[in-house]
Amino acid sequence: MVKKSTKLIRIIKIPKIYDDGYLCIAQTPDNVPFNIKRVYYIFDAKKDLPRGKHAHKKNKQILFCIQGKVRMHLDNGKKKEEIVLSNPEDGILLDKMVWHEMLDMDEKTILLVLASENFDAKDYIRDYKEFLSLVSFKDKKQ
Ligand code: TYD
Repeated sequence: MVKKSTKLIRIIKIPKIYDDGYLCIAQTPDNVPFNIKRVYYIFDAKKDLPRGKHAHKKNKQILFCIQGKVRMHLDNGKKKEEIVLSNPEDGILLDKMVWHEMLDMDEKTILLVLASENFDAKDYIRDYKEFLSLVSFKDKKQ
């Protein structure tokens, strides 16, 4: 179920069942609004070393914090919002052209990410000023 809590932060709640332990299920199209081409996970992150700090031109992602916690900072060029994820059944939709940063992770944190595209270094916008100018150019065209 895709829950629209605000325009920018979209929480995706996936089913959690108990069967001698918990099991959470993400699948297209029920709760993942794109075909999954890639899955990766991040662990053993260093405290005080934020991750992310980029946006994607095309790639859409859903990020789950399946262990520990992470503070997610999202920015679409007009609006900035933050949320702390610590519940394995709550994913956050990282749409294309959303600048995102992952903060306050530690060695216990595990992030599971579902991505709509294969890895492509050219899909990254790593310069914040460039991101802002691309977003405002897109707005002017609309
Ligand atoms: P990056 O996406 O910048 O990580 P984070 O958002 O967590 O800070 O990726 C870190 C490095 O890993 C970078 O050199 C690119 C590489 N990488 C791949 O080779 N393939 C992948 O699928 C991903 C996600 C990253």
